[in-house]
Amino acid sequence: MKFHVMTLFPDIINNVMKESIMGRAVKSGYISIDAVNIRDFAGNKHNSVDDYPYGGGAGMVMQAEPIYNCYKYICERIRAQGSNEDAVEGTEQFKMPRLIYVTPQGKTFNQKLAREYSKEEELIFLCGRYEGIDERVLELIVTDYVSVGDYVLTGGELPALVMIDAISRLVPGVLGNGASAGKESFSGSLLEYPQYTRPENWHGKEVPPVLTSGNHKLIAQWCRRQSVIRTADRRPDLIKGADLTEEEQQLVKKILMKGSDVNEIY
Ligand code: ADE
Repeated sequence: MKFHVMTLFPDIINNVMKESIMGRAVKSGYISIDAVNIRDFAGNKHNSVDDYPYGGGAGMVMQAEPIYNCYKYICERIRAQGSNEDAVEGTEQFKMPRLIYVTPQGKTFNQKLAREYSKEEELIFLCGRYEGIDERVLELIVTDYVSVGDYVLTGGELPALVMIDAISRLVPGVLGNGASAGKESFSGSLLEYPQYTRPENWHGKEVPPVLTSGNHKLIAQWCRRQSVIRTADRRPDLIKGADLTEEEQQLVKKILMKGSDVNEIY
């Protein structure tokens, strides 16, 4: 999977992407990251990429032309490196990757979208700064408007990194262990069950005995039940989409009833 990021702060992207699991995935070639500085396409001697908004208002707006030229540069690189290098942009053979503009005005990113994006070969992210971007270039190049939640950040780099991380860990090979991406929170509309590690007794708190019983069937049943309880308790909005047995539905009903003590059920 190849990520291209259009940004005024490529160091933010590169510094995060060189650490930990993402860093290893880049080194091993499972993913690649290409952070391109929009300022390199300013095309004026002051390297300025923003200007005052037409109609007035606070702040500055990123200009269309540097972003468009940055986009064309990335397109050209993809075309040259791709298997279809003989194809001409705009013809049927040449399929441009999806371009995600990270913006609080987009649809909210979630695990389902992460799974969808993880099937792409290449993705381009556009990170805005200041008050926004000239609408005309967005109309021309953006395919997806995506937000990371209903709050406003100072720029698109952190949201882009959040999405790149969530997408990358679904790319085969990135986690090292194919099983670990499938079993966790959201994979089946349920949150993950609680986890424990040594010591068995910590400050007087015991690990649930079933987990040290060695009975794999009982352990699996316990994990499933804990996932259902936790999701109903913490994310009742998610539980509606879960595939539950009759018994689990009764359990959920009990939890959702106001006044029931969830700690007793746990
Ligand atoms: N840029 C600023 N805030 C954002 C958000 N919540 N999601 C995506 N991009 C953003």
